[in-house]
Amino acid sequence: MSGSKLRQRKKIPKNAKDSRVDEQETPPEFDIDFGKYATFLLPPILLALAVTYYLYPQIFIDAFQSYMGLSDVEMSRVVKGPAISVEITADTMKRDAVVRAFQHSWSAYERDAMGDDEYHPISHKGTNLTAAGGIGYTVVDSIDTMLLMGLHQEYSRAREWVATKMSFDRNATFNTFEVIPTFFTRCGLLSAYHLSGNDTVYLEKAVELADRMIPVFNTPSGLPLTNINLALREGAIDPNWPEFVSSAEVATLQLELRYLSVLTGNSIYWEKGEAVMRRLKSSLLPHGLASIFLNWQTGEFVLSAMRLGSRADSYYEYLLKQYIQTNHTEDFYRNMYSDAMTAVHKHLIKKSVNSNMVYTSELVPEAAPDGRTTWRLTPKQDHLVCFFGGSLLLGATTAGALVRPVSIPPRPEELSEAGQRDWKTGNDLIKTCMDTHSTSTGLAPEIAHFRIASDGMGDDAMYPSDWYIKGAHIKPGELPPYDSRYMLRPETVESLFIAYRLTGNEKYRYWAWEIFEAIELHCRVETGGYATIINVDEVPSQKEDKMETFMLSETLKYLYLIFTDASVVPLDKYVFNTEAHPLPIFDTPPDLLS
Ligand SMILES: *[C@@H]1O[C@H](CO)[C@@H](O)[C@H](O)[C@H]1NC(C)=O
Ligand SMILES: *[C@@H]1O[C@H](CO)[C@@H](O)[C@H](O)[C@H]1NC(C)=O
Ligand SMILES: *[C@@H]1O[C@H](CO)[C@@H](O)[C@H](O)[C@H]1NC(C)=O
Ligand SMILES: *[C@@H]1O[C@H](CO)[C@@H](O)[C@H](O)[C@H]1NC(C)=O
Repeated sequence: MSGSKLRQRKKIPKNAKDSRVDEQETPPEFDIDFGKYATFLLPPILLALAVTYYLYPQIFIDAFQSYMGLSDVEMSRVVKGPAISVEITADTMKRDAVVRAFQHSWSAYERDAMGDDEYHPISHKGTNLTAAGGIGYTVVDSIDTMLLMGLHQEYSRAREWVATKMSFDRNATFNTFEVIPTFFTRCGLLSAYHLSGNDTVYLEKAVELADRMIPVFNTPSGLPLTNINLALREGAIDPNWPEFVSSAEVATLQLELRYLSVLTGNSIYWEKGEAVMRRLKSSLLPHGLASIFLNWQTGEFVLSAMRLGSRADSYYEYLLKQYIQTNHTEDFYRNMYSDAMTAVHKHLIKKSVNSNMVYTSELVPEAAPDGRTTWRLTPKQDHLVCFFGGSLLLGATTAGALVRPVSIPPRPEELSEAGQRDWKTGNDLIKTCMDTHSTSTGLAPEIAHFRIASDGMGDDAMYPSDWYIKGAHIKPGELPPYDSRYMLRPETVESLFIAYRLTGNEKYRYWAWEIFEAIELHCRVETGGYATIINVDEVPSQKEDKMETFMLSETLKYLYLIFTDASVVPLDKYVFNTEAHPLPIFDTPPDLLS
């Protein structure tokens, strides 16, 4: 950013259209007669100025600003000319290496477990989410990646499977979050519909699934129940949390429901999704953060942790993405998103004690001895939270933009103050997420803890100064803690993809390639597929017999898109759902807006 800031601050065109420019005094013309010495003096003077400017540009910028009487803030509001962008061309060698990794995974799954929900690459077996039979979770999750990668043969077999074998008629209880983002977006039916050029097979399946699922919204609050029986078309209460539903679960269906209404002209999906958002808005707590649980009967938030990780992450993500989906027309979401980001900055963004790394922490409620509730700040960042760096950048250039389109990379004056804040925090968080990759394998752990003064570790040389993996000091033969694993998660590469598209800065491609190479080296199963590794600090790695479906649908898709040219799924025409399935941005059909 600083580079572009300096570049942009050099001069203001005299006849710039922005009224804030007109209010400033115009600098007088130079009117000095250098006389006959000018010919000799001018070149060395210009050279000296150029060298000084090259070495110390800030001197000139400050001088110019004070001459113009502009403060930093005012300066940053003067938008000069149309957006500038850089050309993003494909890196075909790296892009094709990612495609081969996808084929290495898909072919193993197709060989061993075609149609099963999940894949175990070491035992070469598949499993289903419930005993009632599979719903094709891995197949539908992977289809849009095949379409994007141009894998025609794999695609046509997968499509055939969807058309002839896929069934939702399963008499068993599924978790809504697994099923809907899995089938509205994880299963990516609507993205497959769009990217296949409107192949109705996918739309019909999506409508069938939505209609089976709609009964979960029939609660007193309108918040959907977490569990569903697809065969009986009945919602079910989660036995572990009978009164609760999680914020991320109820607020992560909207992109799909809304798009389905646009495609079918049936507004019921849109209305069910939007009623949830209205309910959430009216329940919001005074500080503006969402706690991870809500009561599905009253619709109120219940006393529980506040964080950007599991059970809350996509709540924040979808506030922004709903605003983007309808092409920046719904201020309802822009305002909710802005308020949420202000609250997140106020309460959850922290800096590490040693080198000021920006990270997000969690607020956990505790009962004080006198019965009051106190909040404990826990410096714990899930790998899941690494989506948030990219999300902040995307928010800065949309909800936080003063002009449209913004430059690539955005000039500070194109962003509001909140946009500039989010842009900075987003960049800082991505750096932190990359830092959590400085492990023996180059892969990030599932959970990183950051050092705080009260952690009691002192300056014990055994502990690092900024972040650590909790419980990682184990004796030989002991199993490493859950926190140590890397399960092929996509969130860091997702942020790198967004950062690369919004800046054109090659460092993001470089980082993405490092992660890809680490996955190849430590997670690849020679007979096919990739596996979770249980300790990012152990080489050679120990693998676990599981390849999460998001490897095919998210991790490899974002890696692929980092190395394509920018015309493949451009960010001004598509919004990615939380499972990396791109949906087209549309102008809201007026009859759907209530
Ligand atoms: C998963 O479900 C499908 C569909 O019912 C079935 O054909 C397949 O055998 C099941 N797989 C396993 C491993 O049970
Ligand atoms: C669904 O499963 C339940 C319990 O396993 C059974 O009692 C019920 O008859 C089944 N319903 C249908 C329609 O298959
Ligand atoms: C798909 O349908 C949309 C309208 O929903 C239409 O605008 C678009 O042109 C169609 N695409 C193709 C490839 O037919
Ligand atoms: C979104 O709005 C912009 C500016 O109003 C317009 O140029 C663009 O075509 C719209 N995009 C879509 C996908 O409707």
